[in-house]
Amino acid sequence: MLRRSLLVLPLLALAAAWLGVRLAASPAVAMLLAGAIGLAVAGALSAVAERRLSRVADRVLRFADADAGAATVEVSGSRQWRRLAGALTAVGASLRQRFAELADERARVERLLDNLPTAMLLFTTDGLAYANPAAQEMFSCDRQAHRTPLRVLGVAGLADAVTEARETDRTVEVEVQRGDRELVARASVAAAGEVALVVTDLTETRRLEEVRRDFVTNASHELKTPVAGIQALADSLILALERDPDRARTMVWRLQQEAVRLAQLVRDLLDLARLEEGLAHSGRRRVDLADVIRAQVNGVSALAEQRRVAVAYDDTGSAPVVALPEDLRLIVANLLENAVLYNRPGGEVRVRARRRGGQVELEVADNGLGVPEADRDRIFERFYRVDKARSRAAGGTGLGLAIVRHAVARHGGDVGVSSVLGEGSTFRVVLPVEGSEGR
Ligand SMILES: Nc1ncnc2c1ncn2[C@@H]1O[C@H](COP(=O)(O)OP(=O)(O)OP(=O)(O)O)[C@@H](O)[C@H]1O
Ligand SMILES: [Mg+2]
Repeated sequence: MLRRSLLVLPLLALAAAWLGVRLAASPAVAMLLAGAIGLAVAGALSAVAERRLSRVADRVLRFADADAGAATVEVSGSRQWRRLAGALTAVGASLRQRFAELADERARVERLLDNLPTAMLLFTTDGLAYANPAAQEMFSCDRQAHRTPLRVLGVAGLADAVTEARETDRTVEVEVQRGDRELVARASVAAAGEVALVVTDLTETRRLEEVRRDFVTNASHELKTPVAGIQALADSLILALERDPDRARTMVWRLQQEAVRLAQLVRDLLDLARLEEGLAHSGRRRVDLADVIRAQVNGVSALAEQRRVAVAYDDTGSAPVVALPEDLRLIVANLLENAVLYNRPGGEVRVRARRRGGQVELEVADNGLGVPEADRDRIFERFYRVDKARSRAAGGTGLGLAIVRHAVARHGGDVGVSSVLGEGSTFRVVLPVEGSEGR
């Protein structure tokens, strides 16, 4: 357009000169007139071009505005102007599409980071620039707090890892203790001056590892005792069979006792392993807790007689509950056995079961030894015994109440104990009548 106006200019000047000659009859005046008209026309043309350019610039600026509708550049004028407008519109459309794709990608990455159980933080030279929800919870910080690594992370070891990664441009891994948590972190440079920090809380994993290790140690130790007993008895038995048949008979009886103890221990371990698997929906059915109690009171009667402990069931009729029958049996059997074993001659055990709203409550009370306050929470742990020697003498390994706790938990119930040392204990189990998801 500009080029065309430049071509038009000499023509206009010529026309003006011709007019000037005609009007002024002097060639010099005519030339001056022609020059003035030419300049005026050129000025007018450049003002039009400027207005168009500014309109185009306004439209192009709207490309960056994500909220504006589809950006088109429209301009009237020559073919070249229209071509320019068309080209800019096409660039605008492709930019829009890229913006939309980037926004989608960003939303996807954010969703991913938001749902990550691992803490993720991004530090720029200004401080914290991003923290995903796991990190916000772990370090009690805002998503964007602009605080220094040390103020956000609260542990020099973690903040130093961020600085070291930034300064050396290398990935730095550290393990630190933050309060009662064991954290492992990895700092790496994400972009110039930006460091990404990924922090994992290993506390629970380490605790479980320790529990597993303890369990294996305890289980092996408990198994070792009866196995060693059986071995020693068998060795002596071979000799005694020839030399002292009476002694041999006693040994066989003891051998049988050790074997029973071993079998019980293995049974308990298997029960525990099964219960720890958690949810077991198949096999749940409506069971009358009253029936289970009657059967188990009967089952413990020989032991109770031997220990001279009276067991009474306050039978108030049926107490139906949706549960795994075997789990219910384990709960009642273990509580009853304990109430008889940790008792004294002449002692008493009372069992009750009743429905309360949507729950059934089972109570096993004894007037035996009682549980010291310091041990009350711990007796539900595996292998925990208040008096190791006494419990072992009674054939116990400290698994009974752990079995009860797991069986109750996977039915969504609760178990607890109240006790007065030297006077007795009451174990109370609450189960939802209609069963539940459990834990
Ligand atoms: N009714 C009770 N009165 C007093 N102490 C109890 C009673 N029930 C349990 N205890 C204490 O809690 C400990 C843990 O009980 P738990 O039933 O888990 O193990 P155990 O009876 O020793 O062995 P297991 O049941 O595996 O044969 C017992 O060793 C005992 O010290
Ligand atoms: Mg027991």
